[in-house]
Amino acid sequence: MANEQLNTLVLPDENGNFGKHGGKIGHPELAKALAEIETGFRNIIKDADFISEMKRLQATYVGRPSPIYHARTLSRRGAQIYLKREDLNHTGAHKINHCIGEVLLAKKLGKKKVIAETGAGQHGVALATAAALLGLECEIHMGVVDIAKEHPNVSRMKILGAKIVPVSAGAGTLKEAVDSAFESYVGQLGE
Ligand SMILES: Cc1ncc(COP(=O)(O)O)c(C=O)c1O
Repeated sequence: MANEQLNTLVLPDENGNFGKHGGKIGHPELAKALAEIETGFRNIIKDADFISEMKRLQATYVGRPSPIYHARTLSRRGAQIYLKREDLNHTGAHKINHCIGEVLLAKKLGKKKVIAETGAGQHGVALATAAALLGLECEIHMGVVDIAKEHPNVSRMKILGAKIVPVSAGAGTLKEAVDSAFESYVGQLGE
């Protein structure tokens, strides 16, 4: 993240609003934990050590900046189309970018574990990778339908040391995995 980008970073107000959009909607038990994360985030993005660690990991671990590809064949139809090759990042998606920042923040806040949900498995793989890299435990909630569909990503998460929590409620997909991850998080807040 370049310093000039940081200087122009648009953050929401204290109520989580970006102008007329957004807003904070959280379970009451979550409010305190979310406030701690928010304060931690607002502090860490001003921390020179964090910025330099992010830059180092983005360049040497993730492989950024990813190149921009001119899709010439597609562009013959009219508009010039350029693709930012975020798929070339380590783990194959943009998600590793924020997962590394999140795990660095969790470490800074003295946390030992990160918990997340995944659907297709890309988010789970990215977080499991960042957690393995930086030495935190990782717990990933995933619907049973998605587990069956996305087995290679489940294997990757396990190899990376993540604990997979299968979620069979409802449709057994991402929405239920989100609920399950939050429930688990709230249940472990005191630990
Ligand atoms: C926080 C979070 N969880 C889950 C997902 C779903 O992604 P995936 O299907 O790869 O798990 C996303 C996608 O952007 C995400 O940002």
